[in-house]
Amino acid sequence: MPTIHRFDCAATILHGGGSRHQLGSLTKELGGSRALVVTDPGVVALGYVDEIVASLKAAGIEACIFSDVQPDPTKQNVLDGLAVLQAEGCDLVVALGGGSPIDTAKVIAVLPNNPADMATFAGRHKIPHAGVPLIAIPTTAGTGSELTKVAVITDTDRDVKMMMLSAPLQPRAAIQDFELTMTMPPALTAAVGVDTFTHGLEAYVSRKANAMSDPLALSCISLVAQFLRRAYADPGDREAREAMMVASGQGGMAFSNSSVCLVHGMSRPIGAVFHVPHGLSNAMLLPTVTRFSVGGAPQRYAEAARALGITDREHNDTYACDALCDWLETLNRDLKIMRLSEWKHADAEKFAQNKAKMAQDAIDSGSPANNPKVPSVEEIVQLYEKVW
Ligand SMILES: NC(=O)c1ccc[n+]([C@@H]2O[C@H](COP(=O)([O-])OP(=O)(O)OC[C@H]3O[C@@H](n4cnc5c(N)ncnc54)[C@H](O)[C@@H]3O)[C@@H](O)[C@H]2O)c1
Ligand SMILES: [Fe+2]
Repeated sequence: MPTIHRFDCAATILHGGGSRHQLGSLTKELGGSRALVVTDPGVVALGYVDEIVASLKAAGIEACIFSDVQPDPTKQNVLDGLAVLQAEGCDLVVALGGGSPIDTAKVIAVLPNNPADMATFAGRHKIPHAGVPLIAIPTTAGTGSELTKVAVITDTDRDVKMMMLSAPLQPRAAIQDFELTMTMPPALTAAVGVDTFTHGLEAYVSRKANAMSDPLALSCISLVAQFLRRAYADPGDREAREAMMVASGQGGMAFSNSSVCLVHGMSRPIGAVFHVPHGLSNAMLLPTVTRFSVGGAPQRYAEAARALGITDREHNDTYACDALCDWLETLNRDLKIMRLSEWKHADAEKFAQNKAKMAQDAIDSGSPANNPKVPSVEEIVQLYEKVW
């Protein structure tokens, strides 16, 4: 039996500086007449919501705003947004912000046609019906969420970040306007940029990697190598910002149709327990988890090192894998990524009490099973201890 892979993606992607101003005409094209804009207070303060609403109004579309999304959004954020959608009778959703508003908007959009407890959406392909049309406009580069069929929502009752992967979560259209990312301060640029890199690398080494996701993953890796340090050093570098936006989307499409692996599996429990932002917790884990994993797929990791431009075909795979791990350690130093124990809410006692639960939650998410080297619960605990 041949293996069959499934590839989902947005029907339309507008990309390039200024593309946000085409939101109104795109909304009209999709048949929307009253849009719910889902965003967060930080994005409102930047003035981006006003621009988005102006574009909608110019096309004759009514706009309602829900701006109470918090970083690493919760079930309550989704329910509050859903209440606004229903009270206002909106027929289309616009997500504006980083991964947090985009993920919240995705689940708000599917709930009217899938009335169930959100916990039942966790896992792969658990949401049966398409939702209200969604246009996603990222302001970070990024999670790539605008081009994925994934949403991550925290269940605060259980301290679990629920990973939902279902085709109905795929935005109908994405507008990737890199100009919106130019206000990101260096620390945010670094964290979300390493998230992008992790998507490319994990999609490429995953046991679910395939011929459609591989080229996107390798391009993502190569663009991050060339442009992340530049965007970090100079927030106004337009070429670097545009390249990182492209990388973010490619990484998103790659992992959404392959999978993420152990870094993401271990990252979500750190976010749930210590409230470390997603990109930062990935960065804390990436060098150590990569050193643990390379032996499971040395050829794949070596190809990733070659895509980074840090080694070539004259060197064997073992050399290339070592070079990759060293490069990741240097990147973390250059981007001033802290250790987990240095995080403001890190607490040694809480870590000792929670590390076994975190390891079990990582396994339960399913992501570690896609890793080239599949770890036991004990090995995950040891990896947490190493990065602490
Ligand atoms: N669905 C997916 O495919 C996917 C993939 C990876 C991560 N995620 C999820 O995405 C979330 C993280 O998203 P994120 O890292 O983009 O951050 P975020 O959306 O949580 O935003 C972080 C902060 O940055 C601010 N911000 C956003 N854009 C800005 C800009 N242009 N300039 C200045 N500040 C800005 C926000 O106001 C917020 O305070 C996590 O919950 C993570 O689990 C989802
Ligand atoms: Fe991620």
